[in-house]
Amino acid sequence: MKAVVQRRYGSAVLGDLDVPVPGRGEVLLEVRAAGVDMGTWHLLTGQPYLVRVIGFGFRGPKSPVPGRDVAGVVAAASPGVTGFAVGDEVFGTCDGAFAEYSVAPVSRLARKPAGLSFTEAAALPISGGTAVQGLRSVQPGQRVLVLGAGGGVGSYGVQIARSLGAHVTGVCSTGKVELVRSLGAHEVVDYTVADFTGTYDLVLDCGGHRSLSRLRKAVGRHGTVVIVGSETAEPLFGGFDRSLRAMALNAFVPQKLVALASAERADVFEELRVLVEAGHVRPAVGRTFPLAAAVEAIEHVHSRRSPGKVVVTI
Ligand SMILES: NC(=O)c1ccc[n+]([C@@H]2O[C@H](COP(=O)([O-])OP(=O)(O)OC[C@H]3O[C@@H](n4cnc5c(N)ncnc54)[C@H](OP(=O)(O)O)[C@@H]3O)[C@@H](O)[C@H]2O)c1
Repeated sequence: MKAVVQRRYGSAVLGDLDVPVPGRGEVLLEVRAAGVDMGTWHLLTGQPYLVRVIGFGFRGPKSPVPGRDVAGVVAAASPGVTGFAVGDEVFGTCDGAFAEYSVAPVSRLARKPAGLSFTEAAALPISGGTAVQGLRSVQPGQRVLVLGAGGGVGSYGVQIARSLGAHVTGVCSTGKVELVRSLGAHEVVDYTVADFTGTYDLVLDCGGHRSLSRLRKAVGRHGTVVIVGSETAEPLFGGFDRSLRAMALNAFVPQKLVALASAERADVFEELRVLVEAGHVRPAVGRTFPLAAAVEAIEHVHSRRSPGKVVVTI
């Protein structure tokens, strides 16, 4: 099969590999589309160094094929797998989505939402799942601020907060204002003109790397700051140090500071399927790339130029 092959951090090329064999609890997927997010860039480059320490491979990547978000068709199932059969259209995450075939554990798969293309479904799992988990505490009528509202996680954050009955303000750069408005934000702040003001019940922080004190001020005394993440050029933590400081500070401040570590799980993807089929969420796919241009797709995500999500089609 054709696959993007990555033997060391920093480079990957299109090559030929054997079709993988599903193990216990896994299915073989004929991959139709693979989503790209900032995590894919971290695992391609091995940067920041933290990703090597937390288990993705110290000297080189453990998985020879990059890509985690996947949508495709079940081509074979290992004995004992229940709930999925050959021919089922599914989405979720796997290790090695940038390939014609990949194996995926059924614990990280759900049925593809009705009415979504494979391309749209591949844009859902990690970014959409992160937004679902970051917004669990939101109640109807609350004021929610989404920072990085035009990006991968933020584009879902706006839609999911809105579906929960919140008053949503999205913050993004000029080129993404129309997208964020179309996703349902009640107010859109172009941070290149003036930064946000006001007080919110919850801030979903997906971009901009604002200081913890700035974020705490935005939620008054009793609000919640959910730090999803943001990127800095610092080589060891790349911005994650702020999440660690938030965890340490949480016990000593009146606000609730959450350093989100989202889980890739079938039940979360099932929640996304329900949200999509109810008409509350629609993946905002900004640009697609063919498999041969997967590395370009990853760099495009890193450049932050793309509104919404980037997807590799196979
Ligand atoms: N904690 C977790 O479990 C988890 C899960 C998924 C992702 N993440 C992390 O969360 C972060 C966001 O992920 P993503 O996939 O959404 O990335 P993304 O698609 O690059 O989105 C980030 C967005 O932030 C915007 N941004 C940059 N500076 C900003 C500012 N000052 N104010 C407001 N927005 C600003 C960017 O575009 P513009 O500047 O053009 O508006 C971009 O649209 C990444 O660091 C990723 O690694 C963490």
